[in-house]
Amino acid sequence: MAAASWWRDGVLYQIYPRSFGDADGDGIGDLRGIIARLDHLEWLGIDGIWLNPTFPSPNDDWGYDVSDYKGVHPDLGTLEDLDELIAEAGRRGIRVLLDLVPNHTSDRHPWFQDALGGREARHRDYYVWADPAPEGGPPNNWESSFGGSAWQLHEPTGQYYLAQFLPSQPDLNWWNEEVREAIDEALGFWFDRGVAGFRIDVCHAIVKDRELRDDPLPGPDDHPQIIKRGLKQVYSMNRPELHDVLRRWRSLTARRDGDEPVLVGETYVLDLEQLLPFYGLGEDELHLAFNFVFLHSDLDPAQMRPLVEGMETMLPEGAWPVWTGSNHDGMRMATRWAGGDPARTRAALMLLLCLRGTPFLYYGDEIGLPDTPLDAAQALDPVPHRTGDPADNRDMCRTPMHWSAEAGGGFTTPDAEPWLPFGDLAAHNVSAQREDRGSVLHLVRDLIALRRERDDMRNGAYESLAAPEGAWAWRRGEGTAIALNLSEGDLQVEGLEGTVLIGTDRTRDGEAVAGALRLGPGEGAVVDRS
Ligand code: GLC
Repeated sequence: MAAASWWRDGVLYQIYPRSFGDADGDGIGDLRGIIARLDHLEWLGIDGIWLNPTFPSPNDDWGYDVSDYKGVHPDLGTLEDLDELIAEAGRRGIRVLLDLVPNHTSDRHPWFQDALGGREARHRDYYVWADPAPEGGPPNNWESSFGGSAWQLHEPTGQYYLAQFLPSQPDLNWWNEEVREAIDEALGFWFDRGVAGFRIDVCHAIVKDRELRDDPLPGPDDHPQIIKRGLKQVYSMNRPELHDVLRRWRSLTARRDGDEPVLVGETYVLDLEQLLPFYGLGEDELHLAFNFVFLHSDLDPAQMRPLVEGMETMLPEGAWPVWTGSNHDGMRMATRWAGGDPARTRAALMLLLCLRGTPFLYYGDEIGLPDTPLDAAQALDPVPHRTGDPADNRDMCRTPMHWSAEAGGGFTTPDAEPWLPFGDLAAHNVSAQREDRGSVLHLVRDLIALRRERDDMRNGAYESLAAPEGAWAWRRGEGTAIALNLSEGDLQVEGLEGTVLIGTDRTRDGEAVAGALRLGPGEGAVVDRS
């Protein structure tokens, strides 16, 4: 058994800083706006927050184009504001994780600006440069995740640089020891300021094939997403050598005094076999590796249960699962998983908070916030403009938090124009839901409290229990069972005895369960079996 730690026991919460709270009334969320809302997170029972990028950035990709790894974006505040946020969060027992973007910088980062100076420039080799192919054109067939070739010609020097996202996001060269040292130094800088860990952006892509070999074409047996992409990204990303970097970072966190900082990877892979190596031998690589296979499956036990069981049986000793249903790229679970159905949203939240592992909620999940429908032609997100697919508009899951139904939504001042529009403030907001004991907000809070109170909910082993098609039942430890009906009709889960601790329908809390639990569509319950 791995040692207990705050992040294994806790619930984490992702904040998109531009959209959480706007303290200075310019319509853009900021760090002081987050400080002003820490009481909400404490009340909810949150143990740690992950902030999407807070660094100076031209915002071509909303902070994922970093121009200084050791600063704070002026839209969000100052370094002193961030220090204060860490201190104020700490007073409430909440740790702060930042977002490390090690795969690429902004093209306006001083390193890249210098690298453009010529082949002999001091920082030239901080990036991936290559000569044109012998017949001319890009050095190989690698493609950008945002569409088109991953190579950009720099005419003055006659070479191409690699950019696996936007052309203004040049990839760093992780074969260069100086790059490794520079990022180590940035990590140390933030750990010294009290940052409790990092989410690591595009963790699976940092190291590229040293020989820059072409990615092969898919075969008929490959994953449908690989076939759709048209390339198997085995040289442009997903390299075995990236694990050297993860071990390097883990030894860096392990050497810190006090609580070890936690490393959570954005490990965007297509199956569990590819996910598991990010945990290394169990305790020598990432502490947590986001499970996008789970996030992108349907809210259907036939798809999800094998993934949970797979993690349970395949995770190496000492490693710990992490579960999430929403984020700033993949859209909100209330829409993607639950199709806007409030009952299914509640069931999804119960699922996340009752599996063995660390749940990450995305701001607004606690009020069942769905995506906000927006016109892709107006998107601030660059991706739909590049791909032409309106479904790629990530603005829809990045709109401001709904604190109240009043003008400004409690997010900003009544007369300020928020940087992205609000959704339906009246339908989902914190203030109304706090007054309603039956609300999804209280459900989430009570489930988090149950995790704190009940050892089974944190540490109890997971075991699937028998359940009819469309239902999912499992036990945690000896004393706790959870049953969810994710089908469209009524059903009954047999073999359960005890008392309902928390039902998604709160009128069922305290109900005796004698041999079977009847559940309506989208309904779920946590049952005390003792
Ligand atoms: C990650 C981020 C995403 C960003 C991309 C490129 O996937 O989560 O928002 O666009 O990296 O930096």
